[in-house]
Amino acid sequence: MEDKYRVAIITLSDKGFEGKREDLSGPAIEEYLDQSAFFVTDRKILPDDRQMIEKELIRLCDEAKVDLILTTGGTGFSMRDVTPEATMAVAHRNAPGIAEAIRALSLKVTKRAMLSRAVSVIRGKTLIINLPGSPKAVRECMEFIMDTIVHGMDILTGRDRECGGGYAHR
Ligand code: MTE
Repeated sequence: MEDKYRVAIITLSDKGFEGKREDLSGPAIEEYLDQSAFFVTDRKILPDDRQMIEKELIRLCDEAKVDLILTTGGTGFSMRDVTPEATMAVAHRNAPGIAEAIRALSLKVTKRAMLSRAVSVIRGKTLIINLPGSPKAVRECMEFIMDTIVHGMDILTGRDRECGGGYAHR
């Protein structure tokens, strides 16, 4: 288990937090995590509250020291959607390519993907990725990004020093 990457899954939803909506997106993320490579340490539903989200992200990165945080929800245009702002506020470095890749893929599924404000960043040695809110969108995105994310995490954590061989991974 020590060599598995530690993952936290956070669902951002006012209704989910109040118990008024079942969280299907958090479990959808988990479905797509390769059990042999990942170990889920934290599963949480938080309201769309910027301070609460930032506090939890910082705790997970700096104290729990998880390797990966996957968030779902709160990335759209509703005035309550603050996941990208909270994520950017705790970032040490930007890693925009992942969010760009997710949007590029998602635009092929729905034009509404242009309304996603999701970001992907690094804090210390933790990678944080915002995913959209619906379970369907989560599945589409997870399937597309996960193998490449593992390579990024290998580099971030120092497990792999070489980023060569990119041409073999189209
Ligand atoms: N991405 C994929 N792959 N599939 C989808 O169905 N829905 C979009 C978008 N990204 C979607 C998607 C929609 S409708 C919105 S409003 C934005 O994500 C923001 O979603 P959120 O507010 O639930 O985070």
